[in-house]
Amino acid sequence: MTQKKILITGANGFLGQFLVRDLWQKGYEVIATGKGENRLPFTYTERFTYDTLDIGKSASVHSVFDKHKPNLVIHAAAITQVDDAERNTELAEQINVQGTAEVLVDAETYAEYILFISTDFVFDGNKGMYEEEDDLQPLSFYGFTKMQAEAIMSTAEIPYSIVRTCLVYGKPLSGARSNIIQWVSGKLQANEAIKVVNDQVRTPTYVEDLSKAIVQLVEQRLTGIYHISGKEVFTPYEMAVATANYLGADTSLITPVDASTFKEVGKRPLKTGFSIKKAETLIGFQPVSFQEALIKIFEQ
Ligand SMILES: NC(=O)c1ccc[n+]([C@@H]2O[C@H](COP(=O)([O-])OP(=O)(O)OC[C@H]3O[C@@H](n4cnc5c(N)ncnc54)[C@H](OP(=O)(O)O)[C@@H]3O)[C@@H](O)[C@H]2O)c1
Repeated sequence: MTQKKILITGANGFLGQFLVRDLWQKGYEVIATGKGENRLPFTYTERFTYDTLDIGKSASVHSVFDKHKPNLVIHAAAITQVDDAERNTELAEQINVQGTAEVLVDAETYAEYILFISTDFVFDGNKGMYEEEDDLQPLSFYGFTKMQAEAIMSTAEIPYSIVRTCLVYGKPLSGARSNIIQWVSGKLQANEAIKVVNDQVRTPTYVEDLSKAIVQLVEQRLTGIYHISGKEVFTPYEMAVATANYLGADTSLITPVDASTFKEVGKRPLKTGFSIKKAETLIGFQPVSFQEALIKIFEQ
């Protein structure tokens, strides 16, 4: 068996698509999996294949792991929409918590290493610039399921790592969920006025930086928890204005509002953002600035 066969859950997703591309380009044999049909913009080669895997069904998880016997696993699949998780807590629990347990059991059987993707929403947003060892206190059910999944991961009988990330943006490779930059640029280009939250603080993460950091953690089989995000602190409103300025669009179309303006069912933490010192030190992580990311996004 090759030492470089890696199974990715959530491969159709925004992050998953970049992971598939970056790992495959590094020479890994990639088993991309998702709940739905293959939506990846790549044609099959001898180093990349796709299988349907529903992490909510243990038979599905087991049969795909048994078929491919991967020796590395990245678990990125989840119910990722905060309000969806709040509205359907049973499903969020089944997929984000039980699903993680199912993936871990099979990873322990076949693999030598697993990396799990978590979120800044495990924090309550009172402190900001969180470090890896800060106390977890999720405000939303989504954050709660991710905290539980982290706890499950910490029981792993194989080396594991947890990557927490924060407000991921970029240009999806194809058909993945939209993100703030796409939404803002779409509205501005259509000359539509938008209201954007200005009382939530984040360190937004350029998706290509995140993918490359994850690949590096996998390459080095590093264990433990890692905060991976940009370095700069922004509110979504500030991101929107910077995007408008970059595009030469009319910034008066953008109105800053408090999060309370939107009647969202899932509560968001006000002030998150990460200290990325650990990743800087251990893997030399150097995220691009927001301006550099905008150039990459709009020149693609
Ligand atoms: N995007 C962010 O800002 C952000 C921030 C913090 C943390 N994260 C975490 O990063 C990871 C990746 O996020 P993302 O932005 O790439 O999310 P995404 O675009 O919503 O992708 C999530 C993927 O999960 C898959 N999935 C959902 N239910 C499933 C099931 N029952 N079985 C198998 N797969 C299932 C979906 O597969 P199909 O498409 O095939 O249905 C989807 O492609 C997630 O764990 C998320 O919680 C993201």
